[in-house]
Amino acid sequence: MIDREMEEAINRQINEEMYSAYLYMSMSAHFENAGLKGFANWMFVQYQEEMDHAMKFYRYLQERGGKVRLYEINEPPHEWESPLDAMEQTLKHEQHITKCINDLVDLAEKLKDRPTFNLLQWYIDEQVEEEANDEEIINQLKLIGDNGQGLLMLDRELAQRTYTPIQQGE
Ligand code: FEO
Repeated sequence: MIDREMEEAINRQINEEMYSAYLYMSMSAHFENAGLKGFANWMFVQYQEEMDHAMKFYRYLQERGGKVRLYEINEPPHEWESPLDAMEQTLKHEQHITKCINDLVDLAEKLKDRPTFNLLQWYIDEQVEEEANDEEIINQLKLIGDNGQGLLMLDRELAQRTYTPIQQGE
């Protein structure tokens, strides 16, 4: 049976992941309206991955005999000044999520909760990848500047991203 303090912290994290999904779904809609279908696709895949992150915690909590609580999800922004602005906000948000995961690791260590500690290793790796992906796109956007042709080329590249569901137990 999972410790009550950890149960509460994981429920908070489910909410963080659901908010992330909301944020990226909002960005996807924004890019669709802006005619950048590749960026919209990239953000839609991101939204799907965030739902997986939330569900991985959800299933884990149930496996450990915890009680899932679904808190209210805040409304995300719905407009961004530019693709660079949206990607910088994405990176900032992921840095916040990384901090949340690190805080959960600290709590798991404090409570000597080894199963949760193990689970969190997956999230730590995932955060490294997410931040690296965001930084790569930000760097490309900075190089592109206001070159419309460059932006369209990057948009075509981002259209290639596909969603792969995470396997249960992965
Ligand atoms: Fe679920 Fe993007 O962290």
